[in-house]
Amino acid sequence: MTDRVRKAVFPVAGLGTRLLPATKSIPKEMITIVDRPLIQYAVDEAREAGIEQLIFVTGRGKSSLVDYFDTAFELETTLRGKGKSLDVLEPSSASFGEVVTVRQQQPLGLGHAVWCARHIVGDEPFAVLLPDELMYGKPNCLAQMIEAYEKVGGNIVAALEVPDSETHKYGVIEPGTVDGRLTEIRGMVEKPAPGTAPSNLMLPGRYILQPSVMRALDAQEAGAGGEIQLTDAMAKLIGREPFNAYRFQGERYDCGSAAGFVIANLAMALDRPDVAPAVREFLGGQGSSTTSQ
Ligand code: G1P
Repeated sequence: MTDRVRKAVFPVAGLGTRLLPATKSIPKEMITIVDRPLIQYAVDEAREAGIEQLIFVTGRGKSSLVDYFDTAFELETTLRGKGKSLDVLEPSSASFGEVVTVRQQQPLGLGHAVWCARHIVGDEPFAVLLPDELMYGKPNCLAQMIEAYEKVGGNIVAALEVPDSETHKYGVIEPGTVDGRLTEIRGMVEKPAPGTAPSNLMLPGRYILQPSVMRALDAQEAGAGGEIQLTDAMAKLIGREPFNAYRFQGERYDCGSAAGFVIANLAMALDRPDVAPAVREFLGGQGSSTTSQ
């Protein structure tokens, strides 16, 4: 029997420098994809996968992200007064105690951000979702991973093939035996120097981890880029606990860059029945004026 995954950690303290100037005063996670902020997609993914507690690791200037999941008394009262439906707010409402926040006071790396949530995670398995990686799949990425986890337990990370020329930007695994969508992990390295990656299977930011990773993070050792890396802490567990990569079925959109954001917007717009026809028409007639309705 494996313990159920009930908690998910969302590291959202980052400055989002690749999206300046927008991120000067808007958290990257609050920039919209179609008509909802990026964070909503990761939260929807977690909720659909059965996660009950959302743990945001935030920092200064990120309060709007937490406010977003709170009750908006004036807005709701005004909408009600006008006889308007509140259904549109449903995805942004949270049940009592569902959202928990903790601060990462210094930008010491992804591993450090996850470690900041250690007292809230406690002694149970947990998920980590990096919201700027928008994962699209039916069932969604985390749901697919949890289904696999319920069979094999241990630690499971999503993995995705990228061209060899891109591996230096990511965490990369050294693969072992393949069993369907699961691949045994023999090693892991964060941002390998070009030409040295053990494979072209990168980590796209979805993890199911045992609490022991927090003990590995206790050491606070700096790795690639001088940061405390989650990849390094996970690598320490290999050989001690089952560790598998899951090749998820679906698409990944990297919203960490301006181009990625635009592509994700188009992809998600084309998936929305209420928005898709107008977008499709525009794309079909690229170069024509967009001012007519
Ligand atoms: C982080 C992780 C890396 C992962 C990547 C996915 O890197 O450290 O292992 O592959 O996210 O986006 P970052 O993009 O924060 O440098």
